[in-house]
Amino acid sequence: MPEPSAPTAARRVTVVGIGADGWAGLTEAARSVVLDAPVVVGSRRQLALLPDVEGQERRAWPSPFSLDPVDGDRSTVVLASGDPFVSGVATSLLPRHGEVLDVVPAVSSIALARARMLWPAETVGVVSTVGRSLQPLVRELAPGRRLLVLTSGPGTPADLAALLVAHGYGASTLTVLGDLGAATESRIDATAATWDAGSHDVPPLHVVAIVCDGPASGSWVAGLPDDAYEHDGQLTKRDLRAAALARLAPQPGQRLWDLGAGAGSVGIEWLRAHPTCHADAVERDPARADRIARNADALGVPRLDVHRGDALDVAARLPGPHAVFVGGGATAPGLLDLCRDRLRPGGRLVVHGVTLETEQVLAGAYAEHGGELTRHAVETAAPIGTFTGWTPARAVTQWSWTKEHRS
Ligand SMILES: C[S@@+](CC[C@H](N)C(=O)[O-])C[C@H]1O[C@@H](n2cnc3c(N)ncnc32)[C@H](O)[C@@H]1O
Repeated sequence: MPEPSAPTAARRVTVVGIGADGWAGLTEAARSVVLDAPVVVGSRRQLALLPDVEGQERRAWPSPFSLDPVDGDRSTVVLASGDPFVSGVATSLLPRHGEVLDVVPAVSSIALARARMLWPAETVGVVSTVGRSLQPLVRELAPGRRLLVLTSGPGTPADLAALLVAHGYGASTLTVLGDLGAATESRIDATAATWDAGSHDVPPLHVVAIVCDGPASGSWVAGLPDDAYEHDGQLTKRDLRAAALARLAPQPGQRLWDLGAGAGSVGIEWLRAHPTCHADAVERDPARADRIARNADALGVPRLDVHRGDALDVAARLPGPHAVFVGGGATAPGLLDLCRDRLRPGGRLVVHGVTLETEQVLAGAYAEHGGELTRHAVETAAPIGTFTGWTPARAVTQWSWTKEHRS
């Protein structure tokens, strides 16, 4: 006799990828998994692709979308399009069902698009805009770059074209690849500048292939020009920003706190370093906090979390960071101790100060905890009458410190 808990313990959630060619395109093994399942979950379109199976329960995703239909005691097959781990439902199921999850992938629309474009995988960037803003594409723009974009619906190519034109990339080519792998497969070729939304019949399922043609305006290395930001003067200037980020050392998946974020430039450049980075920007002034969000959007990192409030109050309830930047206000009692305390092992702290009072705090911190104390004096050439001379910016004192790997 099985243990009473056996039926629950044996429950599996199997995500089966299905292409635009439907049931006919599934392997024998994938078909058996679907036919043997007591419960099948999918979109109405996907469920309609399956043959009838007596006694099998079929559940369509609800609107608004939720993963609730996957809950229960019985083994369940979940239908996904293409590769379930390419911007797919398997990723969403992982946190709640990871212990019982199996994945049977089909060919991804990205692989099919690469095949149609004859683009080797190593030469292509992939951006998903499914259910999200298009702004992350801004970070990806570079002359000659190839991009494949997963889209949200028939309106996306027109929005993409407008975004490319707005960033000086109107000459980029757009190839809209519809219903890849189906008998109804289609292709539209245009440039961003000449895209005419009214004259194209874009199918709901499509991938957009882009060959970028425009200026080399962004960089993934820290130190964007100051005029890349909207600001009121409260901006960590280019050379100091580069010096700070060199020490903050962004790594994939890591989190930065940008405390007293001003225009948000340090958090924004941390995020631009890698698409899996996280950042919290804390700013007390509401107008500046709004400006930070606008800058993040314009520079392709709308995922920056902007918090309005006092650095000490807000930081106390944020998830622990891998790096902290304090651009101003380091004299606030307890702030640097809180940062050192909350930093994860191996975490980096960088603090800037321009006043004598902050300099004293930083000199004291350096004496007590070590690290690196640096004074940056930047001078820029500017006209003096008909001649040219050096214009000094205020010298900035920078303390940087790294927490032990094991404390
Ligand atoms: C949620 S993503 C899922 C991607 C899927 N996991 C894959 O591997 O293809 C959905 C998006 O994938 C793209 N897509 C999926 N199947 C497609 C097909 N047969 N032809 C073109 N695009 C497709 C569309 O951009 C669609 O909006």
